[in-house]
Amino acid sequence: MKYLFLIFLMNLLHQYAGKSLRRDGSSLKSFEDIKNEIAGYTNIAKAIIDLAVHGKAQNRSYERLAVFTDTIGPRLSGSKNLEAAIKYMFSALQEDRLENVHLEPVKVPHWERGEEFAVMLEPRNHSIAILGLGNSIATPPEGITAEVIVVASFDELHKRAQEAKGKIVVYNEPFINYGETVQYRLQGAVEAAKVGAVASLIRSIASFSIHSPHTGEQSYQPDVPQIPTACISVEDAEMMSRMSLRGTKIVVHLRMGAKTYPDSLSFNTVAEIVGSKYPEQVVLVSGHLDSWDVGQGAMDDGGGAFISWEALSLIKDLGLRPKRTLRLVLWTGEEQGGVGAKQYYQLHKENISNFDIVMESDEGTFKPSGLGFAGSAEARDIVREIMTLLQPINVTAVYNTADGTDIAFWMRDGVPGASLQDDINKYFWFHHSQGDTMTVQDPNQMNLCAAVWAVVSYVIADMEDMLPR
Ligand SMILES: *[C@@H]1O[C@H](CO)[C@@H](O)[C@H](O)[C@H]1NC(C)=O
Ligand SMILES: *[C@@H]1O[C@H](CO)[C@@H](O)[C@H](O)[C@H]1NC(C)=O
Ligand SMILES: *[C@@H]1O[C@H](CO)[C@@H](O)[C@H](O)[C@H]1NC(C)=O
Ligand SMILES: *[C@@H]1O[C@H](CO)[C@@H](O)[C@H](O)[C@H]1NC(C)=O
Ligand SMILES: [Zn+2]
Repeated sequence: MKYLFLIFLMNLLHQYAGKSLRRDGSSLKSFEDIKNEIAGYTNIAKAIIDLAVHGKAQNRSYERLAVFTDTIGPRLSGSKNLEAAIKYMFSALQEDRLENVHLEPVKVPHWERGEEFAVMLEPRNHSIAILGLGNSIATPPEGITAEVIVVASFDELHKRAQEAKGKIVVYNEPFINYGETVQYRLQGAVEAAKVGAVASLIRSIASFSIHSPHTGEQSYQPDVPQIPTACISVEDAEMMSRMSLRGTKIVVHLRMGAKTYPDSLSFNTVAEIVGSKYPEQVVLVSGHLDSWDVGQGAMDDGGGAFISWEALSLIKDLGLRPKRTLRLVLWTGEEQGGVGAKQYYQLHKENISNFDIVMESDEGTFKPSGLGFAGSAEARDIVREIMTLLQPINVTAVYNTADGTDIAFWMRDGVPGASLQDDINKYFWFHHSQGDTMTVQDPNQMNLCAAVWAVVSYVIADMEDMLPR
Protein backbone atom coordinates (compact mmCIF):
# COMPACT_ATOMS: atom_id res chain seq x y z
CA MET A 1 0.00 0.00 0.00
CA LYS A 2 2.81 2.42 0.83
CA TYR A 3 3.81 2.19 -2.82
CA LEU A 4 0.54 3.56 -4.05
CA PHE A 5 1.31 7.20 -3.43
CA LEU A 6 4.68 6.82 -5.09
CA ILE A 7 3.12 5.15 -8.06
CA PHE A 8 0.45 7.81 -8.33
CA LEU A 9 3.18 10.43 -8.42
CA MET A 10 5.14 8.53 -11.04
CA ASN A 11 2.08 8.12 -13.19
CA LEU A 12 1.49 11.84 -13.02
CA LEU A 13 5.06 12.60 -14.08
CA HIS A 14 4.72 10.03 -16.73
CA GLN A 15 1.72 11.75 -18.29
CA TYR A 16 3.92 14.69 -19.12
CA ALA A 17 6.74 12.69 -20.66
CA GLY A 18 6.91 11.70 -24.31
CA LYS A 19 3.94 13.83 -25.34
CA SER A 20 5.37 14.44 -28.77
CA LEU A 21 4.45 11.00 -30.01
CA ARG A 22 1.24 10.21 -31.85
CA ARG A 23 0.02 6.64 -32.19
CA ASP A 24 -1.07 7.15 -35.80
CA GLY A 25 2.61 7.23 -36.75
CA SER A 26 2.37 10.70 -38.24
CA SER A 27 5.47 11.71 -36.31
CA LEU A 28 8.09 9.25 -35.19
CA LYS A 29 9.07 9.31 -31.56
CA SER A 30 12.79 9.75 -31.17
CA PHE A 31 14.73 7.17 -29.23
CA GLU A 32 15.50 9.91 -26.72
CA ASP A 33 11.75 10.29 -26.09
CA ILE A 34 11.42 6.54 -25.63
CA LYS A 35 14.35 6.49 -23.21
CA ASN A 36 12.70 9.20 -21.18
CA GLU A 37 9.40 7.40 -21.23
CA ILE A 38 11.11 4.25 -19.91
CA ALA A 39 13.07 6.18 -17.29
CA GLY A 40 9.68 7.33 -16.04
CA TYR A 41 9.08 3.77 -14.84
CA THR A 42 12.09 3.72 -12.51
CA ASN A 43 10.05 4.01 -9.34
CA ILE A 44 7.36 1.61 -10.46
CA ALA A 45 10.07 -0.93 -11.26
CA LYS A 46 11.57 -0.38 -7.80
CA ALA A 47 8.17 -0.88 -6.22
CA ILE A 48 7.66 -4.15 -8.09
CA ILE A 49 11.14 -5.35 -7.14
CA ASP A 50 10.66 -4.37 -3.50
CA LEU A 51 7.35 -6.15 -3.25
CA ALA A 52 8.62 -9.32 -4.93
CA VAL A 53 12.06 -9.57 -3.38
CA HIS A 54 11.84 -7.89 0.04
CA GLY A 55 8.19 -7.11 0.71
CA LYS A 56 4.94 -8.90 1.42
CA ALA A 57 5.13 -11.02 -1.72
CA GLN A 58 8.54 -12.44 -0.80
CA ASN A 59 8.59 -16.20 -1.54
CA ARG A 60 4.95 -16.17 -2.64
CA SER A 61 5.47 -17.82 -6.05
CA TYR A 62 7.62 -20.50 -4.39
CA GLU A 63 5.11 -21.14 -1.61
CA ARG A 64 2.23 -21.30 -4.06
CA LEU A 65 4.16 -23.69 -6.28
CA ALA A 66 5.06 -25.91 -3.32
CA VAL A 67 1.43 -26.32 -2.27
CA PHE A 68 0.40 -26.91 -5.88
CA THR A 69 3.04 -29.52 -6.74
CA ASP A 70 2.81 -31.31 -3.38
CA THR A 71 -0.98 -31.50 -3.77
CA ILE A 72 -1.25 -32.40 -7.45
CA GLY A 73 2.07 -34.05 -8.36
CA PRO A 74 3.20 -34.54 -11.95
CA ARG A 75 0.80 -33.55 -14.74
CA LEU A 76 1.08 -35.62 -17.89
CA SER A 77 -1.20 -34.75 -20.82
CA GLY A 78 -4.37 -36.79 -20.64
CA SER A 79 -3.92 -37.62 -16.94
CA LYS A 80 -6.31 -37.07 -14.03
CA ASN A 81 -3.52 -35.06 -12.40
CA LEU A 82 -3.45 -32.54 -15.23
CA GLU A 83 -7.23 -32.20 -15.03
CA ALA A 84 -6.93 -31.60 -11.29
CA ALA A 85 -4.14 -29.07 -11.88
CA ILE A 86 -6.27 -27.06 -14.29
CA LYS A 87 -9.24 -27.04 -11.88
CA TYR A 88 -6.88 -26.00 -9.09
CA MET A 89 -5.45 -23.11 -11.10
CA PHE A 90 -8.86 -21.98 -12.32
CA SER A 91 -9.97 -21.56 -8.69
CA ALA A 92 -6.67 -20.11 -7.53
CA LEU A 93 -6.67 -17.41 -10.23
CA GLN A 94 -10.26 -16.49 -9.38
CA GLU A 95 -9.43 -16.35 -5.67
CA ASP A 96 -6.54 -14.06 -6.61
CA ARG A 97 -9.20 -11.77 -8.14
CA LEU A 98 -7.65 -11.70 -11.58
CA GLU A 99 -9.97 -10.85 -14.47
CA ASN A 100 -11.44 -12.93 -17.29
CA VAL A 101 -10.30 -16.18 -15.70
CA HIS A 102 -11.33 -18.86 -18.16
CA LEU A 103 -10.41 -22.15 -19.80
CA GLU A 104 -9.95 -22.69 -23.54
CA PRO A 105 -10.55 -26.32 -24.56
CA VAL A 106 -7.83 -28.30 -26.36
CA LYS A 107 -7.59 -31.98 -27.33
CA VAL A 108 -4.30 -33.38 -26.05
CA PRO A 109 -2.53 -36.72 -26.50
CA HIS A 110 -3.22 -39.35 -23.87
CA TRP A 111 -0.34 -41.78 -23.49
CA GLU A 112 0.41 -43.83 -20.38
CA ARG A 113 3.64 -45.65 -19.74
CA GLY A 114 2.13 -48.54 -17.80
CA GLU A 115 4.50 -51.00 -16.14
CA GLU A 116 8.00 -51.11 -17.49
CA PHE A 117 11.08 -53.03 -16.62
CA ALA A 118 14.50 -53.85 -18.06
CA VAL A 119 17.23 -56.21 -16.97
CA MET A 120 20.60 -57.14 -18.37
CA LEU A 121 20.94 -60.92 -18.61
CA GLU A 122 24.43 -61.17 -20.10
CA PRO A 123 27.27 -60.71 -19.25
CA ARG A 124 25.74 -60.45 -15.77
CA ASN A 125 22.36 -59.87 -14.20
CA HIS A 126 21.85 -56.18 -13.66
CA SER A 127 18.68 -54.20 -13.21
CA ILE A 128 18.48 -51.32 -15.70
CA ALA A 129 16.53 -48.20 -14.71
CA ILE A 130 14.34 -47.12 -17.64
CA LEU A 131 11.61 -44.66 -18.48
CA GLY A 132 9.64 -45.25 -21.63
CA LEU A 133 9.72 -42.31 -24.01
CA GLY A 134 6.52 -40.43 -24.77
CA ASN A 135 4.38 -42.05 -27.43
CA SER A 136 6.37 -45.32 -27.34
CA ILE A 137 4.52 -48.50 -28.14
CA ALA A 138 4.59 -51.43 -25.71
CA THR A 139 6.66 -54.56 -26.06
CA PRO A 140 4.74 -57.81 -26.49
CA PRO A 141 3.46 -58.97 -23.05
CA GLU A 142 6.31 -61.46 -22.69
CA GLY A 143 8.82 -58.69 -23.41
CA ILE A 144 11.72 -58.55 -25.83
CA THR A 145 14.99 -60.36 -25.16
CA ALA A 146 17.76 -59.47 -27.56
CA GLU A 147 21.42 -58.81 -27.97
CA VAL A 148 22.54 -55.20 -27.72
CA ILE A 149 24.50 -53.10 -30.19
CA VAL A 150 25.95 -49.94 -28.63
CA VAL A 151 26.58 -46.91 -30.85
CA ALA A 152 27.80 -43.43 -30.02
CA SER A 153 26.12 -41.66 -32.94
CA PHE A 154 23.70 -42.02 -35.84
CA ASP A 155 26.77 -42.14 -38.10
CA GLU A 156 28.08 -45.17 -36.29
CA LEU A 157 24.64 -46.79 -36.46
CA HIS A 158 24.50 -46.26 -40.21
CA LYS A 159 28.02 -47.65 -40.69
CA ARG A 160 27.16 -50.73 -38.65
CA ALA A 161 23.64 -51.11 -40.05
CA GLN A 162 24.26 -54.79 -40.95
CA GLU A 163 24.90 -55.65 -37.29
CA ALA A 164 21.77 -53.95 -35.94
CA LYS A 165 19.12 -56.27 -37.37
CA GLY A 166 17.15 -58.05 -34.64
CA LYS A 167 19.05 -56.26 -31.89
CA ILE A 168 18.33 -53.62 -29.26
CA VAL A 169 20.17 -50.43 -30.22
CA VAL A 170 21.71 -48.65 -27.23
CA TYR A 171 22.70 -45.07 -27.99
CA ASN A 172 25.54 -43.79 -25.84
CA GLU A 173 25.70 -40.33 -27.39
CA PRO A 174 27.72 -37.76 -25.43
CA PHE A 175 25.83 -34.75 -24.06
CA ILE A 176 26.88 -31.76 -26.15
CA ASN A 177 23.93 -29.45 -25.60
CA TYR A 178 20.24 -30.08 -25.30
CA GLY A 179 19.23 -28.94 -28.78
CA GLU A 180 21.80 -31.12 -30.48
CA THR A 181 21.78 -34.16 -28.24
CA VAL A 182 18.00 -34.42 -27.92
CA GLN A 183 17.88 -35.57 -31.56
CA TYR A 184 18.83 -39.02 -30.24
CA ARG A 185 15.74 -39.08 -28.07
CA LEU A 186 13.46 -37.64 -30.76
CA GLN A 187 14.63 -39.84 -33.66
CA GLY A 188 16.50 -42.72 -32.03
CA ALA A 189 13.69 -45.24 -32.40
CA VAL A 190 13.04 -44.34 -36.03
CA GLU A 191 16.72 -44.59 -37.00
CA ALA A 192 17.09 -47.90 -35.15
CA ALA A 193 13.95 -49.32 -36.75
CA LYS A 194 15.20 -48.35 -40.22
CA VAL A 195 18.14 -50.73 -39.78
CA GLY A 196 15.97 -53.54 -38.43
CA ALA A 197 16.41 -53.13 -34.66
CA VAL A 198 13.68 -54.49 -32.36
CA ALA A 199 13.92 -51.77 -29.70
CA SER A 200 16.06 -48.78 -28.78
CA LEU A 201 17.43 -47.49 -25.49
CA ILE A 202 18.70 -43.94 -25.38
CA ARG A 203 21.24 -42.54 -22.95
CA SER A 204 19.32 -39.88 -21.07
CA ILE A 205 19.70 -36.32 -22.33
CA ALA A 206 21.30 -35.11 -19.10
CA SER A 207 24.39 -33.06 -18.30
CA PHE A 208 24.94 -34.88 -15.00
CA SER A 209 23.59 -38.11 -13.59
CA ILE A 210 23.04 -40.04 -10.41
CA HIS A 211 21.65 -43.06 -12.20
CA SER A 212 18.35 -41.51 -13.18
CA PRO A 213 16.58 -41.93 -16.50
CA HIS A 214 15.20 -38.72 -18.12
CA THR A 215 12.14 -39.20 -20.29
CA GLY A 216 10.71 -36.95 -23.02
CA GLU A 217 8.94 -36.90 -26.33
CA GLN A 218 9.90 -39.02 -29.32
CA SER A 219 8.02 -39.58 -32.53
CA TYR A 220 7.57 -42.29 -35.09
CA GLN A 221 7.54 -41.78 -38.85
CA PRO A 222 5.04 -43.10 -41.32
CA ASP A 223 6.44 -46.09 -43.24
CA VAL A 224 9.02 -46.87 -40.56
CA PRO A 225 8.14 -49.76 -38.22
CA GLN A 226 7.34 -48.62 -34.67
CA ILE A 227 9.59 -50.16 -32.05
CA PRO A 228 9.49 -49.77 -28.24
CA THR A 229 11.87 -47.13 -26.95
CA ALA A 230 13.01 -45.98 -23.53
CA CYS A 231 15.75 -43.94 -21.91
CA ILE A 232 18.37 -45.39 -19.60
CA SER A 233 20.79 -43.75 -17.17
CA VAL A 234 24.05 -42.23 -18.36
CA GLU A 235 25.82 -44.77 -16.11
CA ASP A 236 24.22 -47.82 -17.73
CA ALA A 237 24.77 -46.46 -21.25
CA GLU A 238 28.46 -45.90 -20.50
CA MET A 239 28.84 -49.32 -18.90
CA MET A 240 27.30 -51.09 -21.88
CA SER A 241 29.54 -49.06 -24.16
CA ARG A 242 32.64 -50.13 -22.23
CA MET A 243 31.50 -53.75 -22.27
CA SER A 244 30.86 -53.75 -25.99
CA LEU A 245 34.20 -52.08 -26.79
CA ARG A 246 35.81 -54.99 -24.93
CA GLY A 247 33.94 -57.35 -27.23
CA THR A 248 31.61 -58.59 -24.50
CA LYS A 249 28.22 -59.87 -25.64
CA ILE A 250 25.34 -58.03 -23.94
CA VAL A 251 21.79 -59.37 -23.75
CA VAL A 252 18.90 -57.29 -22.38
CA HIS A 253 15.32 -58.18 -21.54
CA LEU A 254 12.85 -55.30 -21.94
CA ARG A 255 9.20 -55.16 -20.99
CA MET A 256 7.01 -52.08 -21.49
CA GLY A 257 3.24 -51.78 -21.04
CA ALA A 258 2.71 -48.38 -22.68
CA LYS A 259 -0.68 -47.52 -24.15
CA THR A 260 -1.96 -44.70 -26.31
CA TYR A 261 -5.60 -43.72 -25.76
CA PRO A 262 -7.77 -41.43 -27.86
CA ASP A 263 -6.94 -37.73 -27.41
CA SER A 264 -8.43 -36.29 -24.28
CA LEU A 265 -10.04 -32.97 -23.40
CA SER A 266 -7.79 -30.44 -21.71
CA PHE A 267 -7.56 -26.67 -21.43
CA ASN A 268 -5.27 -23.68 -21.69
CA THR A 269 -5.86 -21.67 -18.51
CA VAL A 270 -6.13 -17.91 -18.98
CA ALA A 271 -6.37 -14.89 -16.65
CA GLU A 272 -5.93 -11.18 -17.27
CA ILE A 273 -5.50 -7.70 -15.97
CA VAL A 274 -7.54 -5.86 -18.57
CA GLY A 275 -5.84 -2.86 -20.12
CA SER A 276 -7.12 0.61 -19.22
CA LYS A 277 -6.58 2.28 -22.59
CA TYR A 278 -5.96 -0.37 -25.24
CA PRO A 279 -7.70 -3.42 -23.76
CA GLU A 280 -7.68 -5.23 -27.12
CA GLN A 281 -3.86 -5.14 -27.21
CA VAL A 282 -2.12 -7.94 -25.38
CA VAL A 283 1.12 -8.60 -23.55
CA LEU A 284 1.19 -12.35 -23.01
CA VAL A 285 3.16 -13.99 -20.16
CA SER A 286 3.22 -17.74 -19.91
CA GLY A 287 4.50 -21.10 -18.79
CA HIS A 288 3.13 -24.61 -19.31
CA LEU A 289 1.06 -26.42 -16.72
CA ASP A 290 1.52 -29.95 -18.03
CA SER A 291 4.67 -31.92 -17.25
CA TRP A 292 6.08 -35.42 -17.60
CA ASP A 293 4.70 -38.08 -15.31
CA VAL A 294 7.73 -38.31 -13.03
CA GLY A 295 8.90 -36.06 -10.21
CA GLN A 296 6.65 -33.06 -9.58
CA GLY A 297 7.14 -30.93 -12.67
CA ALA A 298 8.24 -28.21 -10.24
CA MET A 299 11.07 -26.97 -12.44
CA ASP A 300 9.60 -27.88 -15.86
CA ASP A 301 7.51 -25.91 -15.91
CA GLY A 302 5.91 -25.23 -12.54
CA GLY A 303 8.39 -22.43 -11.91
CA GLY A 304 7.71 -20.71 -15.24
CA ALA A 305 3.95 -21.01 -14.81
CA PHE A 306 4.03 -19.66 -11.26
CA ILE A 307 6.31 -16.66 -11.88
CA SER A 308 3.98 -15.78 -14.75
CA TRP A 309 1.02 -15.88 -12.38
CA GLU A 310 3.11 -13.93 -9.86
CA ALA A 311 3.75 -11.18 -12.41
CA LEU A 312 0.01 -10.47 -12.55
CA SER A 313 -0.39 -10.78 -8.78
CA LEU A 314 2.41 -8.27 -8.13
CA ILE A 315 0.97 -5.74 -10.54
CA LYS A 316 -2.52 -6.16 -9.13
CA ASP A 317 -1.26 -5.87 -5.53
CA LEU A 318 0.39 -2.56 -6.36
CA GLY A 319 -2.90 -1.27 -7.70
CA LEU A 320 -1.45 -0.92 -11.18
CA ARG A 321 -3.42 -1.33 -14.38
CA PRO A 322 -1.37 -1.07 -17.57
CA LYS A 323 -2.76 0.51 -20.71
CA ARG A 324 -2.74 -2.82 -22.52
CA THR A 325 -4.13 -6.14 -21.32
CA LEU A 326 -1.69 -8.31 -19.45
CA ARG A 327 -2.68 -11.89 -20.20
CA LEU A 328 -1.48 -14.98 -18.36
CA VAL A 329 -1.67 -18.23 -20.32
CA LEU A 330 -0.84 -21.56 -18.68
CA TRP A 331 -0.41 -23.86 -21.64
CA THR A 332 -1.54 -27.46 -21.77
CA GLY A 333 0.04 -30.28 -23.77
CA GLU A 334 3.45 -28.62 -24.19
CA GLU A 335 5.53 -31.70 -23.50
CA GLN A 336 3.88 -33.75 -26.19
CA GLY A 337 4.33 -31.31 -29.02
CA GLY A 338 3.13 -27.88 -27.90
CA VAL A 339 -0.44 -28.91 -28.60
CA GLY A 340 -2.18 -26.30 -26.45
CA ALA A 341 -0.06 -23.47 -27.82
CA LYS A 342 -0.66 -24.54 -31.40
CA GLN A 343 -4.37 -24.46 -30.97
CA TYR A 344 -4.22 -21.13 -29.12
CA TYR A 345 -2.28 -19.65 -32.02
CA GLN A 346 -4.73 -20.94 -34.59
CA LEU A 347 -7.67 -19.60 -32.64
CA HIS A 348 -6.22 -16.17 -31.85
CA LYS A 349 -3.96 -15.38 -34.79
CA GLU A 350 -6.71 -13.31 -36.41
CA ASN A 351 -5.75 -10.72 -33.76
CA ILE A 352 -2.01 -11.04 -34.30
CA SER A 353 -1.59 -7.31 -34.92
CA ASN A 354 -2.76 -6.71 -31.34
CA PHE A 355 -0.12 -8.99 -29.79
CA ASP A 356 2.54 -6.66 -28.46
CA ILE A 357 4.93 -9.32 -27.13
CA VAL A 358 4.69 -13.01 -26.24
CA MET A 359 6.74 -14.15 -23.24
CA GLU A 360 7.42 -17.63 -21.92
CA SER A 361 9.54 -18.92 -19.07
CA ASP A 362 10.31 -22.59 -19.72
CA GLU A 363 14.01 -23.02 -19.00
CA GLY A 364 14.05 -22.90 -15.25
CA THR A 365 13.52 -20.22 -12.64
CA PHE A 366 17.00 -20.31 -11.16
CA LYS A 367 19.11 -17.18 -10.65
CA PRO A 368 18.04 -14.89 -13.52
CA SER A 369 20.61 -13.15 -15.68
CA GLY A 370 18.41 -11.32 -18.15
CA LEU A 371 15.97 -11.62 -20.98
CA GLY A 372 16.17 -13.56 -24.22
CA PHE A 373 14.61 -11.38 -26.88
CA ALA A 374 13.54 -11.98 -30.48
CA GLY A 375 12.45 -9.03 -32.54
CA SER A 376 13.61 -6.14 -34.69
CA ALA A 377 16.74 -4.14 -33.85
CA GLU A 378 14.53 -1.19 -33.02
CA ALA A 379 12.47 -3.23 -30.57
CA ARG A 380 15.63 -4.70 -29.07
CA ASP A 381 16.96 -1.23 -28.29
CA ILE A 382 13.75 -0.47 -26.44
CA VAL A 383 13.90 -3.75 -24.52
CA ARG A 384 17.54 -3.05 -23.58
CA GLU A 385 16.42 0.23 -22.15
CA ILE A 386 13.60 -1.45 -20.22
CA MET A 387 16.06 -3.94 -18.75
CA THR A 388 18.04 -1.08 -17.19
CA LEU A 389 15.08 -0.76 -14.82
CA LEU A 390 16.24 -4.04 -13.30
CA GLN A 391 19.58 -2.61 -12.21
CA PRO A 392 18.54 -2.79 -8.52
CA ILE A 393 18.75 -6.60 -8.82
CA ASN A 394 21.50 -6.56 -11.48
CA VAL A 395 19.49 -8.49 -14.09
CA THR A 396 19.94 -6.29 -17.12
CA ALA A 397 21.32 -8.46 -19.93
CA VAL A 398 19.45 -8.88 -23.22
CA TYR A 399 20.30 -12.02 -25.20
CA ASN A 400 19.93 -12.58 -28.91
CA THR A 401 17.24 -15.22 -29.06
CA ALA A 402 14.06 -16.10 -27.23
CA ASP A 403 13.09 -19.72 -26.68
CA GLY A 404 9.76 -21.27 -25.92
CA THR A 405 7.82 -23.96 -27.75
CA ASP A 406 4.59 -22.25 -26.79
CA ILE A 407 5.43 -18.82 -28.21
CA ALA A 408 7.29 -20.01 -31.30
CA PHE A 409 4.41 -19.61 -33.79
CA TRP A 410 3.92 -15.96 -32.87
CA MET A 411 7.63 -15.18 -33.06
CA ARG A 412 7.84 -16.90 -36.44
CA ASP A 413 5.15 -14.50 -37.64
CA GLY A 414 7.09 -11.48 -36.40
CA VAL A 415 5.58 -10.85 -32.98
CA PRO A 416 8.36 -9.84 -30.56
CA GLY A 417 9.11 -12.65 -28.11
CA ALA A 418 10.92 -12.96 -24.80
CA SER A 419 12.11 -15.77 -22.58
CA LEU A 420 13.59 -15.65 -19.11
CA GLN A 421 17.32 -16.32 -19.05
CA ASP A 422 18.62 -17.86 -15.89
CA ASP A 423 21.44 -20.01 -14.61
CA ILE A 424 20.67 -23.30 -16.34
CA ASN A 425 23.84 -25.06 -15.20
CA LYS A 426 21.81 -27.59 -13.24
CA TYR A 427 18.65 -27.58 -15.34
CA PHE A 428 19.48 -30.77 -17.25
CA TRP A 429 20.45 -32.58 -14.08
CA PHE A 430 16.74 -32.76 -13.19
CA HIS A 431 14.87 -32.24 -16.46
CA HIS A 432 12.12 -34.83 -17.18
CA SER A 433 13.26 -37.06 -14.32
CA GLN A 434 12.15 -38.10 -10.83
CA GLY A 435 14.54 -35.39 -9.67
CA ASP A 436 12.32 -32.53 -10.89
CA THR A 437 10.79 -31.65 -7.52
CA MET A 438 10.38 -28.61 -5.25
CA THR A 439 13.74 -29.47 -3.74
CA VAL A 440 15.52 -27.93 -6.75
CA GLN A 441 13.53 -24.68 -6.54
CA ASP A 442 14.77 -21.75 -4.49
CA PRO A 443 12.48 -19.03 -3.13
CA ASN A 444 15.02 -16.20 -3.48
CA GLN A 445 15.71 -17.09 -7.08
CA MET A 446 12.01 -17.30 -7.87
CA ASN A 447 11.48 -13.85 -6.29
CA LEU A 448 14.07 -12.38 -8.65
CA CYS A 449 12.59 -14.17 -11.67
CA ALA A 450 9.12 -12.90 -10.79
CA ALA A 451 10.43 -9.35 -10.46
CA VAL A 452 12.03 -9.49 -13.92
CA TRP A 453 8.89 -10.95 -15.45
CA ALA A 454 6.60 -8.38 -13.81
CA VAL A 455 8.72 -5.32 -14.63
CA VAL A 456 9.22 -6.28 -18.27
CA SER A 457 5.62 -7.26 -18.90
CA TYR A 458 4.17 -4.27 -17.06
CA VAL A 459 6.33 -1.65 -18.74
CA ILE A 460 5.76 -3.06 -22.23
CA ALA A 461 2.03 -3.25 -21.53
CA ASP A 462 1.93 0.31 -20.27
CA MET A 463 4.15 2.18 -22.72
CA GLU A 464 2.28 4.48 -25.05
CA ASP A 465 3.27 2.46 -28.15
CA MET A 466 3.48 -1.19 -28.96
CA LEU A 467 6.96 -2.54 -29.69
CA PRO A 468 7.86 -2.03 -33.34
CA ARG A 469 8.02 -5.24 -35.40
C1 LIG B 1 11.88 -16.66 2.14
O1 LIG B 1 12.76 -17.73 1.94
C2 LIG B 1 14.05 -17.49 2.51
C3 LIG B 1 14.94 -18.65 2.10
O2 LIG B 1 14.37 -19.85 2.44
C4 LIG B 1 13.92 -17.32 4.01
O3 LIG B 1 15.17 -17.04 4.57
C5 LIG B 1 12.96 -16.20 4.32
O4 LIG B 1 12.73 -16.10 5.71
C6 LIG B 1 11.62 -16.43 3.62
N1 LIG B 1 10.76 -15.28 3.81
C7 LIG B 1 9.49 -15.39 4.19
C8 LIG B 1 8.71 -14.14 4.27
O5 LIG B 1 8.98 -16.48 4.42
C1 LIG C 1 19.77 -63.94 -13.63
O1 LIG C 1 18.39 -63.69 -13.67
C2 LIG C 1 17.64 -64.76 -14.19
C3 LIG C 1 16.22 -64.30 -14.41
O2 LIG C 1 15.91 -63.14 -13.68
C4 LIG C 1 17.76 -65.94 -13.27
O3 LIG C 1 17.05 -67.01 -13.77
C5 LIG C 1 19.23 -66.32 -13.16
O4 LIG C 1 19.40 -67.33 -12.22
C6 LIG C 1 20.08 -65.13 -12.75
N1 LIG C 1 21.47 -65.48 -12.90
C7 LIG C 1 22.35 -65.23 -11.93
C8 LIG C 1 23.76 -65.65 -12.26
O5 LIG C 1 22.07 -64.72 -10.87
C1 LIG D 1 -10.00 -10.53 -31.38
O1 LIG D 1 -10.07 -9.24 -30.80
C2 LIG D 1 -11.37 -8.73 -30.67
C3 LIG D 1 -11.25 -7.30 -30.19
O2 LIG D 1 -10.57 -7.26 -28.96
C4 LIG D 1 -12.17 -9.60 -29.75
O3 LIG D 1 -13.49 -9.14 -29.63
C5 LIG D 1 -12.18 -11.02 -30.30
O4 LIG D 1 -12.83 -11.89 -29.40
C6 LIG D 1 -10.76 -11.50 -30.52
N1 LIG D 1 -10.78 -12.80 -31.16
C7 LIG D 1 -10.19 -13.86 -30.62
C8 LIG D 1 -10.32 -15.14 -31.37
O5 LIG D 1 -9.58 -13.83 -29.57
C1 LIG E 1 26.01 -8.21 -12.02
O1 LIG E 1 25.86 -9.20 -13.02
C2 LIG E 1 26.99 -9.35 -13.82
C3 LIG E 1 26.62 -10.26 -14.98
O2 LIG E 1 25.83 -11.33 -14.57
C4 LIG E 1 28.13 -9.88 -12.96
O3 LIG E 1 29.28 -10.07 -13.75
C5 LIG E 1 28.39 -8.89 -11.85
O4 LIG E 1 29.38 -9.40 -10.98
C6 LIG E 1 27.15 -8.57 -11.07
N1 LIG E 1 27.38 -7.49 -10.15
C7 LIG E 1 27.00 -7.53 -8.89
C8 LIG E 1 27.27 -6.29 -8.10
O5 LIG E 1 26.45 -8.48 -8.39
ZN1 LIG F 1 9.00 -27.28 -20.32
